[in-house]
Amino acid sequence: MKISILGYGTIGSGVYEIAKANKIEIVKVLDLRDLDVPELTKDFNDVLNSDSDTVVETMGGEHPAYEFVKQCLEAGKNVVTSNKALVAAFGEDLIAAAKAHNVQFLFEASVGGGIPIIHVITECLRCDEITRVSGILNGTTNYILTQMDLNGVSFEEALKEAQRLGYAEADPSADVDGWDTCRKTAILGWLISGHMPDYKMIPTEGITKITKADIDSAKAEGKVIKLLGVVEKTPDGLRASVKPTVIGRDNELYAVSDVMNAILVESKYMGKSMYYGPGAGKLPTAAAVIADVLRTTPAAQG
Ligand code: HSE
Repeated sequence: MKISILGYGTIGSGVYEIAKANKIEIVKVLDLRDLDVPELTKDFNDVLNSDSDTVVETMGGEHPAYEFVKQCLEAGKNVVTSNKALVAAFGEDLIAAAKAHNVQFLFEASVGGGIPIIHVITECLRCDEITRVSGILNGTTNYILTQMDLNGVSFEEALKEAQRLGYAEADPSADVDGWDTCRKTAILGWLISGHMPDYKMIPTEGITKITKADIDSAKAEGKVIKLLGVVEKTPDGLRASVKPTVIGRDNELYAVSDVMNAILVESKYMGKSMYYGPGAGKLPTAAAVIADVLRTTPAAQG
């Protein structure tokens, strides 16, 4: 098995580390910086023309990730990505391209970091009918809200620490303004309905207006504030939203703290089931990427 990696940032370097530990051969690493990585190239064509079976995309953002991924699929390479911006904007197009070229486009790490929620929905619950999914889908904002609540840390200090820990996006406004949660909510909506909602149409509110006073007033009632992404099937179609929500102990998501994410799935046969784990960070996310890489082997498919 031979892979190449597009982008050697927090997740890409984690993928490199875990790939080596799993004796997966790394052919090329694309990054524009001068890095001390033997497989480094600054030219995407070196990846495209390489003999890698699978390309891992951990650059983030929509462009040029989309163009690179599409060309890899069209060249007969599997693609594994952690990039929720790419999946939310182009997931349907890229799945179609993968099918047309008889390869796989896998994106487990794009929602919930290390939590294997994509495979839970598409494989484990495939005989069930999922009616509603609600979740804490962003590690950075959950970390900030928890630190403000439990340790009295300011919003700015907590954000700085989330950045230092490698949880936050390159531009953390994607986290704190709710757009990261919004894109993940759209992906979950796609998986439960078969149709990708336009993430730009999902009513989205982040956590920048939440004050310590809001947190304290929720606490006085034995409640907490969580940034929730919710998608549900209704008689009028799929309804989705992203907003800070006051929840009590009766909500299964109440105790999900710091960088942890959790996704509460409601379905016809199973009822409620919840999936919990680290929602961001180098190694948990990279481990989810490598799990997808291993799924692309003939042995895993057989
Ligand atoms: N910035 C994201 C988060 C990374 O904090 O959840 C994982 O998608």
